[in-house]
Amino acid sequence: MKNPLTRLIIRSYETARNGPVRRLHRAWCGSARWSHYHFGMHLTGNNTGFYFDLTTLLLKWVIQRRWDHARIKRGLEIGVGESANLAGYFSRFGRIHFDAVDLREREVETARKHVALNGVDVTVFQSDVFSNVPAAQYDLVFWNLPYRVPPEHYLPALFRGCRGYLAPRGELIIGYNASPLPRSSVLQHMSDVGGLQLLEANTWWWNPHDVLVIGHARRAGA
Ligand SMILES: C[S@@+](CC[C@H](N)C(=O)[O-])C[C@H]1O[C@@H](n2cnc3c(N)ncnc32)[C@H](O)[C@@H]1O
Repeated sequence: MKNPLTRLIIRSYETARNGPVRRLHRAWCGSARWSHYHFGMHLTGNNTGFYFDLTTLLLKWVIQRRWDHARIKRGLEIGVGESANLAGYFSRFGRIHFDAVDLREREVETARKHVALNGVDVTVFQSDVFSNVPAAQYDLVFWNLPYRVPPEHYLPALFRGCRGYLAPRGELIIGYNASPLPRSSVLQHMSDVGGLQLLEANTWWWNPHDVLVIGHARRAGA
């Protein structure tokens, strides 16, 4: 359970259309300069007015802390969004190639534009989760999960796909707001698919998000 101050901040953010926390969020996440500060990507504008969100930044912190240059040679971002901030940032940071997909053509087109503008080693294409991703073994797959889509529409496909697309020591890292999407629901979908296990759960006292690290289930004694 979060402390009362955190609950107040979260409530102000989630209920108020124009409350101070919401205004702060808009000024921060709607700023191409702040986006560049966090992710190093030059952006020319997008359709939503937001370049990133808090989950994008939390994912960056967790992924960077866990980054292992010897292990991570190939990455995939699902739901890359228009800015392509994370795929762009980590392709530079790790000096590796990233594939990046999004469900929506508008996101794919704008992400491609930003990839070209920044000269990062990212290939963007349209895919519903893994549906159009050619067979591959990724050392890292990550996704800032969508907010207003029922998890039944994408979590089973995500976990099923990871069983085939994740390298033996590969990691799936997902970030989401745990107020509308409780961790128990995420883990239930994972266990329904089977073959995967939770390696690490990250939370913060001042926000309601979870960033989970998931890998292949290890057999006893393996
Ligand atoms: C919360 S946004 C994250 C955007 C960006 N990666 C970021 O961190 O700022 C979630 C993204 O997932 C995409 N998405 C939703 N459902 C999807 C699906 N079934 N397959 C692939 N992408 C999907 C949305 O279009 C959106 O760009």
